[in-house]
Amino acid sequence: MAKNKHKKTESFDFNGGWDYSPSPESTSHVKLKERYELYIDGKFVAPDSGKYFQTTNPATEKVLAEVAHANEADVEKAVSAARKAYETVWSKLSAKERGKYIYRIARLMQERARELAVVETLDAGKTIRESRDVDVPLACNHFFYYAGWADKLEYAFPNRKVSSLGVAGQIIPWNFPLLMAAWKIAPALAAGNTVVLKPAETTPLTAMLLAEIIHESGLPAGVVNILTGYGDTGAAIVNHPDVNKVAFTGSTNVGKIIQKAVAGTGKKLTLELGGKSANIVFEDAPIDQAVEGIVNGIFFNQGHVCCAGSRLFVQESVADEVIRKLKDRLDTLYVGDPLDKNTDIGAINSREQYESIKKYIEIGKKEGAEMYESKCSLPKNGLFIRPTLFTDVAQSSRIAQEEIFGPVLTIQTFRTIDEVIQKANNSPYGLAAGVWTDKGSRIFNLTTKLRAGVVWANTYNKFDPTSPFGGYKESGFGREGGLHGLGAYLKIEN
Ligand code: NAI
Ligand code: MG
Repeated sequence: MAKNKHKKTESFDFNGGWDYSPSPESTSHVKLKERYELYIDGKFVAPDSGKYFQTTNPATEKVLAEVAHANEADVEKAVSAARKAYETVWSKLSAKERGKYIYRIARLMQERARELAVVETLDAGKTIRESRDVDVPLACNHFFYYAGWADKLEYAFPNRKVSSLGVAGQIIPWNFPLLMAAWKIAPALAAGNTVVLKPAETTPLTAMLLAEIIHESGLPAGVVNILTGYGDTGAAIVNHPDVNKVAFTGSTNVGKIIQKAVAGTGKKLTLELGGKSANIVFEDAPIDQAVEGIVNGIFFNQGHVCCAGSRLFVQESVADEVIRKLKDRLDTLYVGDPLDKNTDIGAINSREQYESIKKYIEIGKKEGAEMYESKCSLPKNGLFIRPTLFTDVAQSSRIAQEEIFGPVLTIQTFRTIDEVIQKANNSPYGLAAGVWTDKGSRIFNLTTKLRAGVVWANTYNKFDPTSPFGGYKESGFGREGGLHGLGAYLKIEN
């Protein structure tokens, strides 16, 4: 029996005999507007340019709504509203009252949780299971968590003098639209700052729902301003001289542009950028759990995750077994309608991202790596990619070095711990890593040697508002979440 363990013929065909019945989430409780305006100084206002752009559902490529394209004049209005609100209201309010507003936003988000989840799924292509069970609850939790800190800043940083910074300019990406808005807005408000936030162009809708929620919470006008737009809108926020703090999550390329733009201005900066995180499986690991962790690490949210475990390292002695089980598991994953509660992998966020992932799959093949993709059927329309993995990957190959940001895993093997540490750290990025082993001492050894902001042991993609998150090297700097995330929005003096 043991001898035959790695035989290919033992593969299972899970998809052959039966299928799930469709189980689509209802959208009847969601009424999207045809058009969303900018949220400036407590009012929903038309953009200065009169220009709007469309956001689509990537699962169908149909238009969902149009949103305003903010220009420099709108940014000027939003920043001066945020400045006025900071000087006249928000910084004058007692910390306890500030906390109450943040708490109220969290409660209102919970009340509209189902609507937020459905809209997130429609606009971003992510599965309803994810937006319902991960994104929306975590976004609420961020507001709850930071609401608690608002009146306890002196306990958060004992024996230090802490003060707010002023106006925070925040730019967020499309992979976790509502959650990233929460990561940015909640600590900024708790620390006593006011906010100008720009969501990503392909996923602006939950940010506009959040603007409605913030409005309903009675938060004083101008404390939070939300501007939709493209990169030019983001650049105008970053470059505005009256912004005191810039927080950006997105690509490393744009992060570099922003770092240059902010240099010498005195603006405080945090950058949360790309990644190419290593997920490392040792021979003593619980293999079945590790396979689940590998799947979660790379296929969660279609692989549109900055900390995705996109580089798998398997110890040579168990490589055959892990790869065989992984291929079996790949074939059980449901790719399709993101609104269906059975779906494991939804739609790729945008056509641009779809083309980019496809390009990387071609590059992988040309580089000589062996590709395996699941045998699942794909919907006729919309932007879908089968879960894909590459074996025989060279360390120097582009698919092992560059961020693909899609459901594509590269697999390499290793023999010794020193070898895997070297390989894992041989990347321009340093955001996260995963380690699968039964041995506690090995976990501690690796967590100190891996140059990654977060190291998960025998799990992957675990998030909590109390836990700081952020990277090294080209993955950026500064931390979000926890006390560290609060500190990023404060001036801390001795
Ligand atoms: P991006 O970095 O261009 O977009 C992120 C945000 O930055 C968006 O809101 C965008 O409007 C804004 N932006 C663009 N140019 C700007 C500028 N000059 N100044 C200020 N803000 C600006 O990312 P993109 O093009 O959507 O994705 C490209 C690649 O970046 C992806 O394939 C992926 O590899 C990576 N990425 C990584 C993310 C992460 O969470 N680490 C998130 C999104 C993308
Ligand atoms: Mg969209």
